[in-house]
Amino acid sequence: MSWDFRKPGTRICVCYNATNDQALTAWRSSKAPSVDQLTKEFECGRNCAMCLPYFATLLNEYQKGTWPANPAQADTNWFGAKHG
Ligand code: FES
Repeated sequence: MSWDFRKPGTRICVCYNATNDQALTAWRSSKAPSVDQLTKEFECGRNCAMCLPYFATLLNEYQKGTWPANPAQADTNWFGAKHG
């Protein structure tokens, strides 16, 4: 199974053990969601900073409304049939 940074609950910041769920909760409760906010709240980026591009991508998609994906759209099962 491959690592999917968009999958809900996935740990994005390994150094400070922060998940994309935590980021989403923080962004939803903020009037001005930002990656910087995650640094302030969870320390994300204060060590290796490898997580920052992933959080930036998620934030961009969150603001466009494409992340998290609508579960109904993401579901590829149709009466038990798998596609793709
Ligand atoms: S993975 Fe977030 S600071 Fe290292």
